[in-house]
Amino acid sequence: MSYNKDSGAVLGRFDAEKYYKILLRCVEQIKEKTDFIPEAAVVLGSGLGHFVDSMEVIAEIPYEDIDGFPVSTVAGHQGKLVFGKIGGRNIAAMQGRVHYYEGYDVHDVVIPIRVLKLLGANTAVFTNAVGAINADYRPGDFVVLSDHISSFMPSPLVGENISQLGERFTPVTDLYDRDMRELALSIGREKDIRVHSGVFLQVTGPQYETPAEIRMFRMLGADTVGMSTAIEATAAKHMGMRVCAINCVTNMAAGINNSVPSHEEVTATANKAGKDFSILLKELITRMS
Ligand code: HPA
Repeated sequence: MSYNKDSGAVLGRFDAEKYYKILLRCVEQIKEKTDFIPEAAVVLGSGLGHFVDSMEVIAEIPYEDIDGFPVSTVAGHQGKLVFGKIGGRNIAAMQGRVHYYEGYDVHDVVIPIRVLKLLGANTAVFTNAVGAINADYRPGDFVVLSDHISSFMPSPLVGENISQLGERFTPVTDLYDRDMRELALSIGREKDIRVHSGVFLQVTGPQYETPAEIRMFRMLGADTVGMSTAIEATAAKHMGMRVCAINCVTNMAAGINNSVPSHEEVTATANKAGKDFSILLKELITRMS
């Protein structure tokens, strides 16, 4: 691609070379602090902050100590990488993540998952809080993603492709790993935790949706709606990771059963569901192939 250097378009252009250098520098800085190699990256959403308490922690790195790593601005979202073991597996847990609605560019939102893959993690497990569009779901339920709709979000793969990361035209047909989905469902049955299989739709937020939007999303086939995960999962797939994602239903989406979502309800339900969420996640990580 070539632009006249004086044209405004150059200013906002994604600089692939610079971006790749930032990724490699983040990896280098982490390697200076620990030689731990994670097999899985686990992104902890709302309610799962305490998950790290059940880990045998080997190293902790606040995001702000990694030059180039995006730092969360949302209250209640801690920001650190926790390396350690759970169920005998080596994982890198992200306590807190950045969201597109914070004003970060979509490429920056996926820096952490890209860095963790470059560190050695071949599996990605994403978790997040969502509103339920499917009226059969209830707050406190979990949904393992069978697929997603990210068409309302910019793609993290736009701009010059970085061939060291993945291919230009990435298939996302089987984005969410079938074995991990089935494992999550069977753990739910075994532990008496309500786990559904569903289609998730990501929006930018930060406003919750209008009832008309939720009616549209339902017509499009979405079961849940939330403000993270799908674009991170896309970047993970681009890098060839095995991907799994679990939603925690914190509320019924706007207009479903006359629901008016609020941040208070989202946080309160996420915290209440935290214990079951931790059990589900721990078993999933311990038993995954
Ligand atoms: N909509 C979007 N994001 C969300 C919701 C919701 O209803 N609940 C939790 N995150």
